[in-house]
Amino acid sequence: MAQTPHTVRWGILATGFIAQMFVRDLLCNPALRDVSDVAHKVVAVASSRSKESAAGFLEKVNLAPEGVQLYGSYAELVSDPDVDCVYVATPHSHHFQNAMLALSAGKNVLCEKAFTVTASQARKLAETARAKNVFLMEAVWTRYFPSEHQRSGSWSSPGAIGTVYRVIGEWS
Ligand SMILES: NC(=O)c1ccc[n+]([C@@H]2O[C@H](COP(=O)([O-])OP(=O)(O)OC[C@H]3O[C@@H](n4cnc5c(N)ncnc54)[C@H](OP(=O)(O)O)[C@@H]3O)[C@@H](O)[C@H]2O)c1
Repeated sequence: MAQTPHTVRWGILATGFIAQMFVRDLLCNPALRDVSDVAHKVVAVASSRSKESAAGFLEKVNLAPEGVQLYGSYAELVSDPDVDCVYVATPHSHHFQNAMLALSAGKNVLCEKAFTVTASQARKLAETARAKNVFLMEAVWTRYFPSEHQRSGSWSSPGAIGTVYRVIGEWS
């Protein structure tokens, strides 16, 4: 018997370039990648500037406004009880404050890279997520490219190439 998928209800925090890319991908039918146990729904969008900017975002990603709450502040978004998970898509200078806002409100968080400006900020976010018993992740999508991840993992295995201090990567 077909399983009813668990629906994750997303709140989108910020309306720039990567937020648009992310939401277009998020709303692709999971069946296209042989996934049937989870579904995704955008239930709220917040722009730091205005509710109208949030409405403009919906148009850009071709998402119908029915059932989507629009907010002109991030504080309103994280207070929405229908939001399960907040996607933080502000510039990295603002990730700590925005992710902390969402975690403190008890929301699960997916935060764009670079995660935080300092390691100390990252630790504080992780501690808050643990204390609130919610999920927290940096949106490093390349981590889920199996071939690249396995290859780089083999390089960093003990003795393969010595201690890795810094990695610089480029697309070609
Ligand atoms: N994972 C990836 O492959 C990938 C790719 C590109 C970028 N990123 C990351 O995603 C984040 C956003 O990048 P982006 O290219 O989407 O940037 P962007 O187009 O400039 O969008 C950033 C959005 O953040 C909001 N914002 C809030 N406070 C802001 C402030 N003080 N200054 C500027 N914007 C502010 C704005 O939306 P509202 O005012 O409407 O809220 C703005 O549209 C960065 O951390 C970047 O590193 C990740």
